[in-house]
Parts: sequence; C-alpha cells; structure tokens
Amino acid sequence: MNKRGFASDNNAGVHPEIMKAIENVNSGHTIAYGDDPYTASAVKKIQSILGDKVQPFFVFIGTAANVLGLDAVTKPYHSIICAETSHIHEDECGAPERWTGCKLLPVESPDGKISPASIEKHMYGIGFEHHSQPRVISITQSTEMGTVYSPDEIRAITNYAHDHNMLVHMDGARISNAAASLQIGFRDITVDAGIDVLSFGGTKNGMMYGEAVVFMSEAFTYDFKYLRKQGMQLASKMRYIAAQFERFLDEDVWLKNASHANLMAKMLEAEVMKIDGIRITQPVQSNAVFAILPKEIIPVLQEAFFFYVWNEATGEVRWMCSYDTTEEDVINFTSLIREVMN
Ligand SMILES: Cc1ncc(COP(=O)(O)O)c(C=O)c1O
Repeated sequence: MNKRGFASDNNAGVHPEIMKAIENVNSGHTIAYGDDPYTASAVKKIQSILGDKVQPFFVFIGTAANVLGLDAVTKPYHSIICAETSHIHEDECGAPERWTGCKLLPVESPDGKISPASIEKHMYGIGFEHHSQPRVISITQSTEMGTVYSPDEIRAITNYAHDHNMLVHMDGARISNAAASLQIGFRDITVDAGIDVLSFGGTKNGMMYGEAVVFMSEAFTYDFKYLRKQGMQLASKMRYIAAQFERFLDEDVWLKNASHANLMAKMLEAEVMKIDGIRITQPVQSNAVFAILPKEIIPVLQEAFFFYVWNEATGEVRWMCSYDTTEEDVINFTSLIREVMN
C-alpha cells in the first residue's frame, strides 16, 4: 500500500476522469506523432480558452516545456532573468543552460516572486558585445514558494519586458492552482497579461503526464516542430497526451482539482497555526505550505507522512497538497505533529 504524504503533488495518482479519457481513445489505429483528430481537438480546446492565435505543442514533462519553450525564443548569447528559487534555476540540472546556451540570471525572491525593481540589477551591458543580452524574463505561476502573482503584477513585468525588447515566459506547472486561487481564467494571467510563452502544466493537477508549450504568437512557432523533435519530446502516441488535456481543461477537472488542493493547504495552514512552536514562512496562496519547525521532529514526521526539507540551513519544510489530499490526511498529520511536539 502506498503511503500518503505531503511531499509533492506529483506523488498523487492519476485522476479517474483522466484515466477514463485515456481509456476512451485507446481503440483502433490513428496517425502517430500528433497528426490525429484527438490532438487537433485538444489544440482547438486550448485555443478556445486562450484565444485562436495561440499555438500549443504537447510535450511529456515540465522541464522539457520550459527548456524547449525558452530555446525557441532565444539565441545562445541571450540571458534569461528568473527567480533564484525558480525550477529552471534550481531543479532542472542545468538543462536550460545546456540546451539554450543562455546564461540564467537569478534574482532574489524570498517569496518566489520577482518584479521589475528586482530585475533592474541585471539590465546593463545592453548592446555591449562582451555581455550576454537579457532577452527573457521567466516567472512561475504559482511560484515555487506557493505564492501567486496577481494579473497586475504579471502585467508590470510584461510591460517592463516589452519596453526593453524582451519577452516573458511563464512556468505554469501549477497554473491551475494559481487560477483557482485568483478565481479567474487561464487567459487573464497569460495572454491578457502579456505573457509570450507558457509552459502549461497538467501533471501536478491530476494528469498522468503531459504538458504543453503555448506560444502566444505564431512568430515563435516556425522552428518549434524541429526543436521539439530534436529535444526528444515529439510523442509518437500523441493521442494520449491530447486526450488527457482535452478532459483536464474542463472545469470539473482542472478547477475542481486545483481548488481542492488549495483548500487542503489552507486547512493544513489553519491546523498548524494552532500548534505552538511552528512558524508558517510563506503566505499560503495555492497548494503549498512552508514552515519552520523543530529540526529533531522532522524525521519522526517523515516516517509517517513523507515530505521534503526545503532549506537544510533553516530547517524550512515544504508540505504540498494535491487533488486527492483529504481532510483526514490533514487531521492525521497535524495530530501527529501535536503529539510529537509535546
Ligand atoms: C515549478 C515547476 N516547474 C516545472 C516543473 C516540471 O517538472 P517535471 O520536469 O518533473 O515535469 C516542476 C516540477 O516539480 C515544478 O515544480
């Protein structure tokens, strides 16, 4: 029996509706490599949500969506400005640097967010051939610290970028959690907020696998089919990613799942706040709770409910909720915390 825990929203299984969607397309033959009616239909569905100008391309994983999306809009002499806590900077094993050739320029981001003011320090050497040229600002929504950018905060960054001849990439591995938290649609925090390239996530919110790189303008898509193939992300059996996305994009899946995960994080925060000696370190705005607790109790808790220590130096831990986290999980976990604290 798999143990339940708060380690990652990736640790949850596949949502039953997604499993059904996979099953539903699992008969007969269809053309491979995306030239099939299921892929066409899923592309249309994304366009119906984000606007018919957007160009989606399915890939297997989030790292690939980020790396290939960034590769499509940069040259190796460019640089990419991002939060120091961002997945592209911390958790992709240097793949963005290796693949794009670009320099990553991290910005301090205690809450996971960046802003035009914090980006400013990297804006020099423009036009100077000895210096890598800032070309993309990459932001994560919701952030790696569980915080959420408002549409105005995103617009401030995209306006700044566009004024400086730059583009904005959004790592939307958890875009559903952000949209659910803000109670607005995907379009409000992407196309309408000026985002140029989106990594549209599905895996963390109930899909088995599959993400989409979505370009907001056709201008960037000319080369992409070649980049995706060279990047080893052209799925032969594309219908299974497409079918998942098609179902995922209904509100009874993405919104319901993300709202539930967010709600469980809020409940976890509320229960933890009743316990003396634990400090919540980040605003809980999506499905993550960050906290500092006595270091010696961490292994005891991890034994029963696995989770990760986020920052070894401070002892800060990350608790992630997923679409299948239950109230019982939260109560059992916080009861255990209370027990070992006493
Ligand atoms: C913010 C963020 N971006 C992207 C990813 C993509 O991950 P993967 O390549 O494991 O699908 C993750 C996964 O943890 C993530 O947390």
